[in-house]
Amino acid sequence: MTDFSRTMIERSGYLRDGFASTYERFRPSPPPVLLDILARYAQVPHPHLVVDLGAGTGLSARAWADRADRVAALEANPEMVRQASRAPAANLAYLRAYADHAPVADGSADLVTCAQSFHWMDPAVVLAEAARMLRPGGVFAAYDYDLPPLVHPDVDAAFAAHFDARRDARRRLGLQAGAAYWPKSGHEARIRESGHFRYVREVTCHGSGPTDSERVIGLAESVGGPREFFGGQAPEVDETFYSLRRIARAVLADREVPMVVSYRIRLGVR
Ligand SMILES: C[S@@+](CC[C@H](N)C(=O)[O-])C[C@H]1O[C@@H](n2cnc3c(N)ncnc32)[C@H](O)[C@@H]1O
Repeated sequence: MTDFSRTMIERSGYLRDGFASTYERFRPSPPPVLLDILARYAQVPHPHLVVDLGAGTGLSARAWADRADRVAALEANPEMVRQASRAPAANLAYLRAYADHAPVADGSADLVTCAQSFHWMDPAVVLAEAARMLRPGGVFAAYDYDLPPLVHPDVDAAFAAHFDARRDARRRLGLQAGAAYWPKSGHEARIRESGHFRYVREVTCHGSGPTDSERVIGLAESVGGPREFFGGQAPEVDETFYSLRRIARAVLADREVPMVVSYRIRLGVR
């Protein structure tokens, strides 16, 4: 059951030394409006229990910990759990576990979330598990942000070129990531077709915050694993990265500018 996720984690490069701290430093956290939407839809202003699946370094789980009684954050990669544990919170438990067999009681959760992680998982197994954990009226939500974020046309174009180079290199080298198997655009249909949810829909929202060239460059470094993972077999990944770095530094210089991150939430109400 966990074979798919295990393969994705091995291929990700996220187990490499130091990658979890890069991830934690540069990836975005969900904006307050996203949490508001989900809490409102689950009809509970202050959730009793949120279960975050594929919690990574805790960027989403910590956001929920600020507005829920308890958060259970499940993550299978020990390096990510180690990084997450550096920022403890009294009401937040990091569990090194696969989402496929969550150590959470039946009907106990108001929300089960997959932040940028559902495409790493076997959807049929995880949706059944989410439905088991949710109380009636509770909400399962897979939310993902669009990359590149919106910063500046030239920077965004260079970021997109780097992102595409990574994706194409993974395909060529037989190292595809989860999105190649379970595209995010199919999340809503998969949630609906699981038959576990009485209402399914997609909703979008945006977060915004200041960025500078180093943040944009760091974010690109954190997408798709460390570049060394390609072992010199994909020079275009390095080339597009250096091009993005040069353009970001030239365009943004030492300025801070707004960065808009768009989220797509695919949710199912139990
Ligand atoms: C892109 S990261 C997202 C991390 C975090 N949720 C965030 O918003 O930044 C996806 C994470 O899901 C984890 N993961 C993948 N499949 C999993 C599974 N079946 N059970 C638990 N964790 C899983 C990976 O190890 C990885 O850390």
